[in-house]
Amino acid sequence: VKFTSNRLLLFGATGDLSRRMLLPSLCALNAEGLLDPQIEIIGTARSEMDDQGFRAFARQSLEQFLPAERRGGLATFLNRLTYQPLDATDPSGFAALAEKVGKPEQGLSIFLSTAPSLFEPTIRGLAASGLANERCRIGLEKPLGTDLESSKHINDAVASAFPEDRIFRIDHYLGKETVQNLLALRFGNLLFEPLWNAAHIDHVQITVSETVGLESRVGYYDDSGALRDMVQNHMLQLLALLAMEPPVSYDATNVRDEKVKVLRSLRAVADGETVIGQYRAGAIAGQAVPGYDEELGKPSNTETFVAIKAHIDNWRWKGVPFYLRTGKRMPRRTTEIVVQFRQVPHSIFSGRGARTVPNLLVIGIQPEENITLSLMAKVPGLDRNGFALRSVPLAITMPDAFAGPQRRIAYERLLLDLIEGDQTLFVRRDEVEAQWTWIDAIRALWAEQQLEARTYTAGSWGPSAAIALAERDGISWHE
Ligand code: BG6
Repeated sequence: VKFTSNRLLLFGATGDLSRRMLLPSLCALNAEGLLDPQIEIIGTARSEMDDQGFRAFARQSLEQFLPAERRGGLATFLNRLTYQPLDATDPSGFAALAEKVGKPEQGLSIFLSTAPSLFEPTIRGLAASGLANERCRIGLEKPLGTDLESSKHINDAVASAFPEDRIFRIDHYLGKETVQNLLALRFGNLLFEPLWNAAHIDHVQITVSETVGLESRVGYYDDSGALRDMVQNHMLQLLALLAMEPPVSYDATNVRDEKVKVLRSLRAVADGETVIGQYRAGAIAGQAVPGYDEELGKPSNTETFVAIKAHIDNWRWKGVPFYLRTGKRMPRRTTEIVVQFRQVPHSIFSGRGARTVPNLLVIGIQPEENITLSLMAKVPGLDRNGFALRSVPLAITMPDAFAGPQRRIAYERLLLDLIEGDQTLFVRRDEVEAQWTWIDAIRALWAEQQLEARTYTAGSWGPSAAIALAERDGISWHE
């Protein structure tokens, strides 16, 4: 349902996500004139504070998390902010909130970035106070459950007040320009699509490595682990975008219809197709860092690294393994997709001793976006055999190709789309549930096998078993 809302209601307005991402994104949108001049942004959270207090809080967050050159119009932006304290578990507070928000008939977007345990009471309170009518839509921040059952529970609760076309489930990876560019690369070029299948692709690797450790998220992370924190959402979304069939058009229904088919085609992972790890003390970029246990303050079997050999059982991808890995405290922060093409069917050069190396497409998503396609080329010169070949990179660096536009926060796109009602970059219920179905089966397998996380030294690429997972198939992880 497309209408531009002129009210934005932020739950969890004093939280970490709000400080680091949401307020900076909104301020940047405002600076660029992308927000409706009439918009009012109402923050709510448990803390007692008035409008002025919230504005001071916001100013301080912006100074910390948004570069000065993106803070144009700061005073007008701060003036758009108001605040209403609310204990979401107490239904009596919602009437005052509704009064602060004013008439939702003009269009209200709500963003829940609170503990998931508050989702249900919040939805009830919104519905009871008239803040869930047909001019209201709701955005939900992760985690949307911890397994299929709890995610269905949350989805049911939200669905009791909002229809699916007014529910916006966030996966912030979809807000990244570089992730959207995957679609441009695949469907804006003729070159790749005819080769994008099992006949021409040998395997795919997706790596999301981070240098950070537990940060300050002790409670959340230890209950979650890398599989649920990163694979269930971000990595499966990357995989879906990479593997899906061409959608009829770039719109919410068509794109999500294709993604969900991929997610439903994921084969249940078998014994020996996953490796889990947990970092112990080590060093990153020369800095000593403690082990996970020490950061947590107790022993734990939670995985901070996971590697998976995944299979997509459909016509296009039959027999092509997708190797996924993600971990904390790795040597570098990278998000990268590697597409390994097959060998040429016949080498005309082999009689001359020249070897062809299969083409490799590397799509770097973070920290810099770059695309590198390795091509075979003749080494110039008078080789004794008359021909020598070498693989050379055809490389594009996005910041060079598009000088000018600054790097954006993923939430700028997502907040703008929420306010305007475009669901293309939000996750539909059937996608989330297909993601959980696959993840739950992995966790059930781990539980059955009583799988223990193997240790790896902080600053390394994970446990050696993860290297072996690929090497067994004659493949090495791209580094
Ligand atoms: C979040 C995870 O969803 O994504 C974090 O909870 C992780 O653990 C973060 O650090 C990574 O996001 P980005 O945008 O820094 O790659």
